[in-house]
Amino acid sequence: TWTTTSVVDEQVALIRAQVGSSRAICGLSGGVDSAVAAALVQKAIGSQLTCVYVDHGLMRKGETEQVEKDFVAATGVQLKVVDASERFLAALAGVSDPEQKRKIIGREFIRVFEQAQAEIVAEAPNDHPVEFLVQGTLYPDVVESGGGTGTANIKSHHNVGGLPEDLEFQLVEPLRKLFKDEVRMVGQELGLPEEIVQRQPFPGPGLGIRIVGEVTRDRLDLLREADAIAREELTAAGLDREIWQCPVVLLADVRSVGVQGDGRTYGHPIVLRPVSSEDAMTADWSRLPYDTLARISTRITNEVKDVNRVTLDITSKPPGTIEWE
Ligand code: XMP
Repeated sequence: TWTTTSVVDEQVALIRAQVGSSRAICGLSGGVDSAVAAALVQKAIGSQLTCVYVDHGLMRKGETEQVEKDFVAATGVQLKVVDASERFLAALAGVSDPEQKRKIIGREFIRVFEQAQAEIVAEAPNDHPVEFLVQGTLYPDVVESGGGTGTANIKSHHNVGGLPEDLEFQLVEPLRKLFKDEVRMVGQELGLPEEIVQRQPFPGPGLGIRIVGEVTRDRLDLLREADAIAREELTAAGLDREIWQCPVVLLADVRSVGVQGDGRTYGHPIVLRPVSSEDAMTADWSRLPYDTLARISTRITNEVKDVNRVTLDITSKPPGTIEWE
């Protein structure tokens, strides 16, 4: 029978057998999945693990600081932070196609991990080699990336279908058979704090797949502001546990006419995508209170330059996916 204790025990044994005396690195994204995967691997191999947090510049407001503080405080894990925003933005320049963006982001992640690996080896050259990469891949990520199940490829999750072919690492993916609610239970069992375990999902490719159109620094800044406002108001309204997540999307290639003061504006729309779900495989749009939606809309159009319209996505999954790309 399935219990969190049996999952933890089984995975700890499997990870020890797989990694042996070698060393591993784990990419932390700030999300639940990578945090639980890291905590599980740390339990199995302790200081043979180094976590790597890649700041790809596609993060939400305050996210980097949160990983640096919360996760390290909770686990005491060795953490290496890499600022790679220049690199990711350069690689994404001129690219609008969603799958291409996902592949580029997946590839750049791996290149940065390889660099981190080289640095970790250089710091302790006589230690065992760093051969393993830990990922918080879940069952739905595998299915929706068409991972060996014969299912149609819906989108390449950055840590599955987005991996480069010449990958030098062996993968450790202890959550590959689990759904999100199970991952949360395992995280709890491992003693991770509520703020981490109950965090809403956020995709590895970050805001990069929430800008419909080319990803640029200006557009990211704009979306980051709008997203922060939406999150703030949802939290203030006490809705965080009610909704699964609420992607905020910038339609960067669309403009519409508006009016502000006595002047005409010609700005971009923001889409709010609040969803309710059990496992992200299917979802329904959340019936949020009108007052909350109104506050979010007023604040975003007042406070975010170049955004003159806020729209609500009322599509279920299927036929829509949760993210727009
Ligand atoms: P979709 O858009 O496929 O999203 O309905 C399902 C869930 O997965 C998240 N998501 C991702 N998570 N890497 C991730 O770690 C990705 O590339 C990725 N793409 C989507 C999404 O936020 C939702 O929770």
